[in-house]
Amino acid sequence: MVSRVIPVEPFDLIIFGGTGDLARRKVLPALYRRFLSGQMPEKARIIGAARSDLDSAGYRKLIGAALKEFVSEKARKPDTVKAFLKRLEYVSIDATGTDGWQDLAKLVRADVIKAYYFSVGPALFAPLAERLHENGITGSKCRIVVEKPFGHDLASARALNDTLAKYFDEAQIYRIDHYLGKETVQNLMAVRFGNILFEPLWNAQYIDHVQITVAETVSVGGRGGYYDKSGAMRDMIQNHLMQLLCLTAMEPPSKFDPDAVRDEKLKVIRALQPVDSSDIVRGQYAGDEDEPSYIEHSENPDSITESFIAMKLHIANWRWNGTPFYLRTGKRMRARVSEIVVRFKEPPHSIFDADAGTNANQLTIRLQPNEGMDLLVTIKEPGPGGMRLIEVPLDMTFADALGQDDDEVADAYERLIMDVIRGNQTLFMRGDEVEAAWSWTDPIIEGWTKRGDKPKLYEPGTAGPEDALMLLHKDGRRWRDLKP
Ligand code: BG6
Repeated sequence: MVSRVIPVEPFDLIIFGGTGDLARRKVLPALYRRFLSGQMPEKARIIGAARSDLDSAGYRKLIGAALKEFVSEKARKPDTVKAFLKRLEYVSIDATGTDGWQDLAKLVRADVIKAYYFSVGPALFAPLAERLHENGITGSKCRIVVEKPFGHDLASARALNDTLAKYFDEAQIYRIDHYLGKETVQNLMAVRFGNILFEPLWNAQYIDHVQITVAETVSVGGRGGYYDKSGAMRDMIQNHLMQLLCLTAMEPPSKFDPDAVRDEKLKVIRALQPVDSSDIVRGQYAGDEDEPSYIEHSENPDSITESFIAMKLHIANWRWNGTPFYLRTGKRMRARVSEIVVRFKEPPHSIFDADAGTNANQLTIRLQPNEGMDLLVTIKEPGPGGMRLIEVPLDMTFADALGQDDDEVADAYERLIMDVIRGNQTLFMRGDEVEAAWSWTDPIIEGWTKRGDKPKLYEPGTAGPEDALMLLHKDGRRWRDLKP
């Protein structure tokens, strides 16, 4: 199936940190694919800005090599790559000083959309905002895009919001959480609010519990310095899993529009209860023959940072009273799986004999891999011999259902960058949302820091520490198996 391509207005996209890892690995390959699809208008330009002493020709060469590495061979058509690279310019710039700003000011056009992408560490957000303002290259057609981490705690997130607010309106600030750009995350809203089937059952009366898993097989690799100050709670729960939780638990917004959606998400975050320490399991991976342990990766031999966390949450409102949400995420686990599992309650009364058994329905929304959904439904075990109930999956892998191959599924960054150009903030975090998420996160981290809780060691290739399984077992429940 070929997806619809709606061209966007002409723009200048300026990428600060344009030679960095994220720009090379994600942002420019995403832009290339949008170019390939025909979405980029004739007058669209991409300006890389970084410290390196390069000219535009050198930058094109660098990005050409990045496309070779990060775009599939099938999508890399030589003429298209050449035409795309022609759209690139480069400015060597000092984010905290004055060098290069005049050159940039000369290059950006006043009459087109200007999107400044801060693909740099958060320490540079404030100086960049200030310089843009001083050089008079902002204005109403301008927006800024900021990457996570958006703060380290509530105080730092607030300070960042305040600084950005000095120079930009909230409507110009696009805080990226790339999970919101994933196809299936948006599908969650389509499934919940585009069907009559689910919403009447989507509450504590019919849902026993919800599981949200983002398991990764990778280690922290070379990111030890950043990760050790962050840990799974700040790196994943405060943002990606929180967003998944919000979209699963929120009330139906009146419209699919930025503030309607974000107002509802904010209400969920504000309704989150503090978490008891007995409902949190933190872990750190051990080493094996392939890779060193977390501690060996870390610069701190006494690190108590978690590379895994599982927790049980409660949302204090009418819809969810009594339905727990279990979250887990970790590195070096058995499989790379991101999914939301909605476990329904069993029917209130069985009309069958006790030995027929009973089952509960279960809806699994798979974000990756094999994006899709499956619903466990109870049927009769085939054959003679009486009535025995079994559960079977109604399985829908989106790629199969839509006749797509992997290359056609847009990457999160493709959608998000184009939304920035279109001026649609629905899939970006609002300042108050980020602050509310930190307000809930901070006391939890403070709690274990004060107690000096150490993470449990877990073997790579597993589902995390044994205690994470117990978190559900003690409630008579179990995690869905982590299948590669
Ligand atoms: C990033 C985290 O935001 O998300 C990483 O900083 C993590 O630690 C990554 O690996 C996971 O993203 P994805 O899209 O690969 O699931």
